Order: sequence, then structure tokens, then C-alpha cells
Amino acid sequence: MAMYNDKVMDHFMHPRNVGEIENPDGLGKYGSPVCGDMMQITIKVDDNDVISDAKFQTFGCGSAIASSSVATEMIIGKTVDEALELTNKQIINELGGLPDVKIHCSVLADHAIKSAIYDYAQKNGKTYKGLEGFDPDADEDDHHDVADE
Ligand code: FES
Repeated sequence: MAMYNDKVMDHFMHPRNVGEIENPDGLGKYGSPVCGDMMQITIKVDDNDVISDAKFQTFGCGSAIASSSVATEMIIGKTVDEALELTNKQIINELGGLPDVKIHCSVLADHAIKSAIYDYAQKNGKTYKGLEGFDPDADEDDHHDVADE
């Protein structure tokens, strides 16, 4: 059986939202403590607190590319509060599954998005419930959810 399903392959071969937003409202960078790969997410947030754009760049594997491609699609058009509810488990489910050894790649995308929102919140003096206890520098890969099969 193939390790990666068609949706993962599609997002890997044709990733959405690749790049870097100029003058972003929030920028998040995260390095995976599991594999050392890096992810950068930039976001634009409009006056209604809605994420109007999100882009990613990664020195990461195919699963990281697919995860951030789908994750940026999932947060564009959402409010910051809604985007903060995104979990790596939802990213995996949206992709239709990832191999167990690749779960941390979805964490990379999830954590980089939260870091970008954290940056936005810091710059604008905002607080969000979804950021309570969030530390952009924490190595938290080991206690994230694994997707249900
Ligand atoms: S192996 Fe590093 S992000 Fe996938």
C-alpha cells in the first residue's frame, strides 16, 4: 500500500500558499525538535480579526509541505480565535491521514501558525484564549494528538 494518499501527494506536488507575505501582521518560525526541519508562516489579519492571507515556507519534508499547504487553506477566512482552535489532528484528518512517523510534520505546521498568531497578538497588544499557555519556543511535539484511524 502506498504510504501517502492522493490528497497528501496533491498538496505536496502542488502546494498552496507557498511564499512569504510582505509586511505581514504576524510571522512565526518553528524548528521541529524531532527532525530539525524549519517552518515559517506569515499571516495578514484584517480589521475584523479575520485572517485574510497566510503563506508558508519550509525546509521540511513532503509531509510538512502538504500539512502547511492544507493548514494555510484551513485558516484563511477564519477569525484568529477560530484559527487558534486548529489542531495538528485536524490537519492530518483534512489530509486523509499521515503515516505515524510523519505526525510531527503536521505539528510543525500547527506550531508555526500559532507562533505567527502569537507574534500578531504581541505586536497589537491582544490576548486570545487559544494562546493561553502557548510558548512559541516550547518543544511540544511529544504530547500532540495522533490522528484517529
Ligand atoms: S521529517 Fe521533518 S518535517 Fe517532516
